[in-house]
Formats: sequence, C-alpha cells, structure tokens
Amino acid sequence: MALDRSNPVPNDLSAFWMPFTANRQFKKQPRMFVGADKMHYTTADGRQVLDGTAGLWCCNAGHNQPRIVEAIQKQAAEMDYAPAFQMGHPKAFELANRLRDMAPKPFEHVFYTNSGSESVETALKIAIAYQRAIGQGSRTRLIGRERGYHGVNFGGISVGGIVNNRKVFGSLLTGVDHLPHTHLPDQNRFVKGQPEHGAHLAEELERIVALHGAETIAACIIEPMAGSTGVLMPPKGYLEKLREICTRHGILLIFDEVITGFGRLGSSFAAEHYNVMPDLITTAKGLTNGVIPMGAVLATKEIHDAFMQGPEHLIELFHGYTYSGNPIASAAGLATLETYKQDGLFERAAELAPYWADGVHSLRDCPHVIDIRSEGLIGAVELEPIAGEPTRRAFQAFLDCYDKGVLIRTTGDIIAMSPPLIISNGEIDQLFGTLRDVLQGLK
Ligand SMILES: Cc1ncc(COP(=O)(O)O)c(C=O)c1O
Repeated sequence: MALDRSNPVPNDLSAFWMPFTANRQFKKQPRMFVGADKMHYTTADGRQVLDGTAGLWCCNAGHNQPRIVEAIQKQAAEMDYAPAFQMGHPKAFELANRLRDMAPKPFEHVFYTNSGSESVETALKIAIAYQRAIGQGSRTRLIGRERGYHGVNFGGISVGGIVNNRKVFGSLLTGVDHLPHTHLPDQNRFVKGQPEHGAHLAEELERIVALHGAETIAACIIEPMAGSTGVLMPPKGYLEKLREICTRHGILLIFDEVITGFGRLGSSFAAEHYNVMPDLITTAKGLTNGVIPMGAVLATKEIHDAFMQGPEHLIELFHGYTYSGNPIASAAGLATLETYKQDGLFERAAELAPYWADGVHSLRDCPHVIDIRSEGLIGAVELEPIAGEPTRRAFQAFLDCYDKGVLIRTTGDIIAMSPPLIISNGEIDQLFGTLRDVLQGLK
C-alpha cells in the first residue's frame, strides 16, 4: 500500500510522553514506523523491518489484512458508535457467539473491555462479586504470582509480581498474596516446551490457604505461560496441580491469556493447549489483531448464571466501559476471527513450532546466552547481564537488530520473540540469522 508522504515525521517529539519507553533515549534516536504490511514494518527512512514480535504480541494475522481493513472501513461508514449500556448492536452479539464457539467448552459468556489491563480488572471484580453472589462474601482475597504481568491498572499491578511495575505506586490493593514464580534456571535450562521441574511450586497455594483460610480467598490469577517477565513455560504438572487445589478450596482460577490467546501456542487458548480449564479467561491483543483496542473476559455458564438473579429490570453487574463492544472493534474482531479460521493460522502456528524451536535453540552457542526457552511461536533468549548494568546488553541487541532490519523485544536481559503466525521458514531463518550476527557483535 502506498505511504502518505504528505504526513512527514514531526520534528518536535517532546509532547508525547511515551509508555514503557526510555523517552530521552528514544527522542535522541527515534525509531519511527510509518507503514506495515504482512510481516514487515516500513520505517520513516524507507527501510523494511521484519516483525519478530507481532507488534506487541497482538498482530497474530500479520499487518494490513484485507478482511480486517475492509470490515473497519465498512463499519465506520455504517455505524460509528452505539451506546454500550442498555442498548446493543448486532456485531457485538455475533462476535460473542464466535468467541464462545472457538473457546473451550465451559466458556459460554463474554464481557467486553478495551485492553488486557481492563480484562484483568474485570475478571478480578467478577470473581469477587461471584463469590458474594453464591453466598461466599468473605472470599475477597486475590492470589497472584511473583514475576506475573497482568497489565498496569491497580488490580493488575497488585496481583502482578514485577517489582518495577509496583514499587513506586504506593500500597496497591490490600488482601493480595503471591505464589512463588516458576523460574528455576539451575534445573530447567535450554528447554523446548514445558520444563520438567517445578510442579511442586503450585503446592505453595496450600501454604497460602493455610495462612489466610480458604474462606477468605476469591481467586488465583496466573498467566499460563508468563510472557512479559521473560517467557516462562509452566512446568509439567504445575497447572493441573493448581487447578486441583483451587477446586478443592472453592477458589476461582483465572488464566490471563492476553498473549497466549488466539493461536500463539498453536491452539485457540493456552487452556486448550495445556488441557487445563480455568474459571475465567482474560483476552485482548489478538482478538482484533491489535488493530483496534478491544479485550474480553470469557466466563463459564456457572459464573454468569450466578449473577442472573433478582428482578429482571435491575442491572446484574455494575461494571462496564463506554467502549465495551464498540461497533468498529466488534467488526474488527469478527474479521480477525474469520481470518484466523479461513487462513488456518492456529494450525499453521502449531506446524511451524518445531522449525521455530530449532531456530531459536540454534543460538545456544552465541556469546552471552545463558538460557533459551520456546513453545508454540514464542521464543526467549536470556543473556548474561553486564555486571552492574542490568538490561543494557539486551537493549543494545534490540537497537542493533532494528538497525539490521528485525524487530525483537526485550524485558530485562531477556530477548522475547513472538512473530505473526503467518511467518515463513525463510523469515524465521532471517530473524535468527540476524540475531546471531548481533549477539556475536555484542560487548
Ligand atoms: C498477560 C498480560 N496481561 C495483561 C496485559 C496488559 O494488556 P494491555 O497492555 O492491553 O493493557 C498484557 C500485556 O502485555 C499481558 O501480557
């Protein structure tokens, strides 16, 4: 598609306070994208950059997908907005039905949000309100996990476990406790798929129950595969054990599937991939291919039906957003799910996974590499930090890859890669070949 050259890059970058960005570094050395198509971004200076991260783990169908572009254009012209409260429009219902049909069996209801962070807040609130609705009002505590990432709102950072996302924001929510993380580098190193060691860490939930009393705990939220902390796959047996303990103590289990949803592991959701069913699933990102903000919480019939009591003219759940189920987002969601289905992208991700895993693990002999992890179309390369300067080495790798035409992402000293599911074998070779060159040149 032709780029609009009448809209040059502004020469004043000061006003925009950029999210999760080293603002001063960026503004001295800007990295601007002005176009995107399929597997590539176009930079302001006309270079092609291979998208090794599906934007931010969201453009699973690749960029500029014609079905999605047309759906948005058509919907914008037909109806731009409809009130989300006490009114409806057909596409929001149609999309909810499509989500129900593609989700694992117990998930029959969909609550719309506008982001992963909002999906997390929504799921936590539904969990506490559900316990009250079934006569378990003393269950208000929430259990998260160290190194967990559940977005940036107060509930999410309270149950989350990444210190920099928490430490400067005050006392957070009360009544929250954390499971230990599952990163055991001495026992699980250079693993393809789920590591062998660590299932026993789920038993820490028993300790937390013994400390607080099960009757005070509403829910436990985890990422089935922890992404933002640097890609940690669940140890074999861990999710099953957590499920069993939650069920035994009446604690709801929430899977935060904001990045694992929509094909990333080669299945619709991680719940299906790992064959462990939570009670609530949070989603966003791949739901609209990242094109328009939208998230959704998937709930079981049991949870939904617990709210459907009392006089029918009364609102059952005092929660929602102005843009919940927005028409243009719904149109984008429908076109996205259709693209995944028509193009067989989840199956494609599953087929590509072994080639992908071989590619990322081929970097094992590169300088500074201390671990490599992979599953589905996710790969992580952990680097030895520079003494006294954590994050600097991986950030330099990110800058060097960008200069060489490849987009990766870093968290701490871990390089995380999660390309669109349309990536080809040749592009996988290019991604890891470039990373090899970069790692070999790093100090
Ligand atoms: C597991 C998980 N939950 C929540 C979020 C937050 O999503 P958003 O940035 O859309 O608020 C993310 C974002 O990466 C995520 O990975």
